[in-house]
Amino acid sequence: MSGALIELHDVSRIYDLGHVQVAALQGVDLEVEEGEFLAIVGPSGSGKSTMMNILGCLDRPTGGTYSLAGTPIAELDDDGLARLRSRTIGFVFQSYNLLPRTSALENVATPLLYQGVSRKDRLARAQVALERLGLGDRISHIPTELSGGQQQRVAIARALVTEPALLLADEPTGNLDSASGAEVMTLLTQLNAAGRTIVMITHDAEVASRARRQVHVRDGRLVA
Ligand SMILES: Nc1ncnc2c1ncn2[C@@H]1O[C@H](COP(=O)(O)OP(=O)(O)OP(=O)(O)O)[C@@H](O)[C@H]1O
Ligand SMILES: [Mg+2]
Repeated sequence: MSGALIELHDVSRIYDLGHVQVAALQGVDLEVEEGEFLAIVGPSGSGKSTMMNILGCLDRPTGGTYSLAGTPIAELDDDGLARLRSRTIGFVFQSYNLLPRTSALENVATPLLYQGVSRKDRLARAQVALERLGLGDRISHIPTELSGGQQQRVAIARALVTEPALLLADEPTGNLDSASGAEVMTLLTQLNAAGRTIVMITHDAEVASRARRQVHVRDGRLVA
């Protein structure tokens, strides 16, 4: 296994609509080392979501190769890919994607269910993750009883509770007012300073400037 956590070589994703083929990604080469904080930046329609889906193992390239944590994903069947995903990646979405009518503690504990952790240990680890994000006094609150910024911090705690090698964030401040958005960016910066690898996808140049490295996507290609 080489050093890079993420290795894309000549990756393409062609959507085949029968009468027409849409090249959403073409010729993408990208390496992300452990410990990096990378922003993938581009305008609407440039291929960011397609890239996010491929990096997150929710979709496969139609050409080229993707290795995640030393594993070429082409060698895995769908179950193997799902296992690699849940072991390696914590996801943060623009719209938080928390379970409604479910406490912050239960939300954060959920990913551990799929790893066969006992209920007692799940709740203990979720509690620690929430305390680390400054939400120790909000563990019993359900999403509608939390502010947007707090909901996103719960979502970040949920992404981190499995101690993933990679935090993959898709427009993590997209639904937040500027103060809460700034708080979330400060949090991501601190997590990266503590060693967490972060890949963030955004159309917002100011948000992207908080990352330590940026790559730009235009019409499905990475440009300098
Ligand atoms: N399922 C699909 N079938 C066909 N074409 C698609 C599909 N999904 C995306 N595309 C096309 O691929 C290109 C890239 O789309 P993508 O959703 O990755 O862009 P994006 O950068 O995420 O845009 P936005 O900022 O608006 O979310 C676009 O031209 C889009 O129309
Ligand atoms: Mg998108």
